[in-house]
Amino acid sequence: MSPQELVKHAKLARTRAYVPYSGFKVGAAILAKSGNIYLGCNIENAAYSPTNCAERTAIFNAISQGEREFVALAIVADTAKGCAPCGVCRQVLMEFFDDEVEIYLANLQGDIAYRKISQLLPDSFSRKELL
Ligand code: THU
Repeated sequence: MSPQELVKHAKLARTRAYVPYSGFKVGAAILAKSGNIYLGCNIENAAYSPTNCAERTAIFNAISQGEREFVALAIVADTAKGCAPCGVCRQVLMEFFDDEVEIYLANLQGDIAYRKISQLLPDSFSRKELL
């Protein structure tokens, strides 16, 4: 699947964002090795801190469906450059990604930046320390 195609799925997920407080819609789509695609949007909360980012919604959706291995993740928002994941999401992605997983940071203009998890979260603390 092309990066552009996965971004298209992320854009669909973005339309489902629940963002009454920030108004900032984010969509994510994750392609599992099974070939299945899982979507996620950001889901805000009146107490603010329980807000779930789009990337975490997508990966939790995939994990809860039994997936463990991934090919690619696309994130899209209305940003000047491709939308970068927050620090919390980077840590969650690190739990399940290695550097073979493609990460596409996209915006609505069609820009895509290509990243690996080790670029987004260098010197990470990860499962390797514990398992
Ligand atoms: N947000 C995401 O969903 N993903 C990111 O990578 C950055 C931030 C959401 C959280 C909140 O709902 C809104 O964007 C503004 O921070």
